[in-house]
Amino acid sequence: MSPVNVVIYGVGEIGGAIAKFLLEKPGVSITGAVDIDKSKVGKDLGEILNIGYKTGIKISSNIDAVLSDAKADIAIHATTSYLRDVYPQICELVKWNLNVISTCEELSYPYISEPELASKLDKLAKKHSVAILGTGINPGFIMDTLVIALTSVCQKIDKINVVRVVDASKRRLSFQRKIGVGLTLKEFERAVTSQNITGHIGLKQSIAMIASALSWNLQEVQVKPIEPVISATPIEFGDYQILRGQVLGIKQQAIGVINGKESIRLEFQAYLGAEEYDAITIHGVPELRQKIQPCIHGDIGTVAIITNFIPKILSAPAGLLTMKDLPLPSAFFGETFRQFKSLKRKR
Ligand SMILES: NC(=O)c1ccc[n+]([C@@H]2O[C@H](COP(=O)([O-])OP(=O)(O)OC[C@H]3O[C@@H](n4cnc5c(N)ncnc54)[C@H](OP(=O)(O)O)[C@@H]3O)[C@@H](O)[C@H]2O)c1
Repeated sequence: MSPVNVVIYGVGEIGGAIAKFLLEKPGVSITGAVDIDKSKVGKDLGEILNIGYKTGIKISSNIDAVLSDAKADIAIHATTSYLRDVYPQICELVKWNLNVISTCEELSYPYISEPELASKLDKLAKKHSVAILGTGINPGFIMDTLVIALTSVCQKIDKINVVRVVDASKRRLSFQRKIGVGLTLKEFERAVTSQNITGHIGLKQSIAMIASALSWNLQEVQVKPIEPVISATPIEFGDYQILRGQVLGIKQQAIGVINGKESIRLEFQAYLGAEEYDAITIHGVPELRQKIQPCIHGDIGTVAIITNFIPKILSAPAGLLTMKDLPLPSAFFGETFRQFKSLKRKR
């Protein structure tokens, strides 16, 4: 049986880590790679991944050129965070009859911020008989899917609180930049105003996904302003020499209002040196308190969840899907991915 053929769209930190992981998986073959970064285009994927051998796959900036030469079943998409920006990229992939798993945060539950684009994507995916899923560790798992799974043992729920605390020194450079590590307070405030610092994207999507799973009538999501975490003393963290008063990272909160009452509160903190944990509290019957310590590593977890969903997406119904619509998430340690090709929906 032929392998599951994968195209990597966006060979950055996450797309690259997924590609590296997939190159080692039996039954999967990477048949193409796309990126617009001029320093990557034309180079062998192996060179960009720094794995010490050539893969024979040249990075191209043009998906049409890649797919007119190569066969693919699925695209792993990891470029940017807003659906409006990635929408044309996802459409291109679907028009080539590719299933898509994307790390785009807004795609994890697009109905809250981009309902029209979501509906267009759903129609397009159904027309081409493929499935589209936005997922990752957060949004995609910790602050939504895991919470939803825990609610399955509750008879009554009054309020849900989730706190994720991440030590940013253990995360990738693009993540550290996104949270303003090393900036002065003035630079930070300017970057927030100009939206060069967006902080964590996805709190709104996670709240909406939880509310939808519980059939709660979500009236409003209040996303609070991003707060800087400031260093009280000079500290060294790897390559960073942080002065007193400089930014170590951020704190962010979002609140979901149901029947006029705060019913879901998500809090995300990411800063250098933070003591890490993920905590989910469900006030209800029964009362549930779950703590994962240290928190699930975002990059490792994202590579895993994207890869583990390949078999599930190949056999899922066509259309735009979210994590709450899919079978129970799990790791996949089958001998090969090939067996899932036979489960593929008929085109
Ligand atoms: N849901 C989750 O849990 C989760 C987890 C991890 C990451 N993410 C998200 O996934 C995305 C990728 O993360 P990352 O850290 O890998 O980012 P990154 O290192 O910046 O990599 C993105 C790559 O995609 C390229 N790119 C941008 N626009 C493109 C386009 N139109 N066509 C082809 N390639 C394009 C970029 O090139 P240039 O550098 O030239 O722009 C870059 O090489 C981010 O939005 C991140 O926030 C989500």
